[in-house]
Amino acid sequence: MEVIITPDPAAAALLAARQIARLVREKPTAVLGLATGSTPIPLYKELIRMHREEGLDFSRVRTFNLDEYLGLAPGHPASYHRFMEENFFSGVNIPRDNIRLPDGLAADVQAHCAAYEQAIRDAGGIDLQVLGIGSDGHIGFNEHGSSLASRTRIKTLTKRTREDNTRFFDKPEDVPHHVITMGIGTIMESRSVVLLAYGAGKSAAIVGAVEGPITANNPASILQMHPDAKFYLDDSSAGALERADYYKWVFHNKPVWQADR
Ligand code: GLP
Repeated sequence: MEVIITPDPAAAALLAARQIARLVREKPTAVLGLATGSTPIPLYKELIRMHREEGLDFSRVRTFNLDEYLGLAPGHPASYHRFMEENFFSGVNIPRDNIRLPDGLAADVQAHCAAYEQAIRDAGGIDLQVLGIGSDGHIGFNEHGSSLASRTRIKTLTKRTREDNTRFFDKPEDVPHHVITMGIGTIMESRSVVLLAYGAGKSAAIVGAVEGPITANNPASILQMHPDAKFYLDDSSAGALERADYYKWVFHNKPVWQADR
């Protein structure tokens, strides 16, 4: 796990966008795992800018999103389908057929989840998975207590996650109780992981994930076992890390051959 601490969200998003752009240039058919929430928005904005101004080409890229609310149609204003359309897909040139999200209206949820896993395998696996983090350490919608080996499946949201996400809905009671999410095992199979976090509200989750024990009580902590996971943090989300100075030292003193990776 590499921890990269930046002064603000824009700087964190820029570094993450550069990593994704490098991958897409090196492997134009890259498979990206994508996330929703407010955290990846500056990342998506930067990728859209790179597409428009620097010709970053997504025409052969394929994407799989982490999760979706059960019961929400793709056009629902709070659905993750709609979020992705508005915040990323409408600004880049990924062909519609290359885009997959879990279907919130799936009639047979279990069969749909199995098919989603198969589609990821058929695409050759995910090259790079983008993640935010919940205030309690959840990734995707893998709430605490999720099996660290879990696959795409239905989950029941915690009270806290429903409260955190109320801001995207008209009324608190409109937040669905159930979701479909890639599992932690699914996420761990991605060849690389980029996790973004900003703000003091995420600092406890980040300490648990980076410096705590590996535990299902903080699902992001499993990323300590991932061979290529980078955490791009702003100063406030990194504020409670005991070894913050060391992570900064490592970043500023990389061997030359590693410096732009
Ligand atoms: C939801 C999403 C997660 C996201 C989290 C944090 O639970 N399923 O993927 O990381 O919210 O959201 P935000 O970035 O808005 O803080």
